[in-house]
Amino acid sequence: MVSVAVTIRTARVDELESLEALQRRASLANPGDREAILAHPEAIVIPLNQLTDGQVFVAESDGSLLGFSAVLDREDGQTELDGLFVEPSLWRAGVGRLLVERAKSYGHDHAAVWLHVVGNPHAEGFYEACGFVTYGSQQTEFGPGLLMRAAVGPRGGGAT
Ligand SMILES: CC(C)(COP(=O)(O)OP(=O)(O)OC[C@H]1O[C@@H](n2cnc3c(N)ncnc32)[C@H](O)[C@@H]1OP(=O)(O)O)[C@@H](O)C(=O)NCCC(=O)NCCS
Repeated sequence: MVSVAVTIRTARVDELESLEALQRRASLANPGDREAILAHPEAIVIPLNQLTDGQVFVAESDGSLLGFSAVLDREDGQTELDGLFVEPSLWRAGVGRLLVERAKSYGHDHAAVWLHVVGNPHAEGFYEACGFVTYGSQQTEFGPGLLMRAAVGPRGGGAT
């Protein structure tokens, strides 16, 4: 659990660079992703419209950014977790779960039933702990991805 007070709020446009730097640090801390990120640094980009559209949520404590999640509206009416990154020094402290909960509540507010994610296999246990189930797989630019989804209803209840 997080031992300091954490606020989850919508990201500001002027935080774009800080969030991309955080994403870079978090991605490089994954041994399985490090090489690909170093070879393709341009892969780390947060589309400006995600910020202007209010689809990026940050975890903040005492003025410091601890992590962020980014959500997309899918054409099928469901929502997709497009990005989730936590400052490596704070992993396993509950910040990622708070950011997933905020992404789920975005989906709930937008009349979605599911929050989907193409999960990096190394994060499978994390996503399962946050209520996601795997229903397939998909090849991504950086290797195999797990197609996972979680219900966005109150406490993730309802759909299976
Ligand atoms: C994946 C990531 C977002 C997790 O964030 P976090 O703040 O460490 O996660 P939390 O502390 O909220 O963990 C929530 C639960 O998942 C579990 N968990 C966290 N990371 C895990 C992992 N790698 N494997 C298995 N379980 C994990 C925690 O133990 C916790 O379970 P519990 O509440 O039952 O004890 C973070 O490690 C990260 O930023 N990684 C690099 C970027 C990345 O891989 N993003 C996902 C790409 S699909």
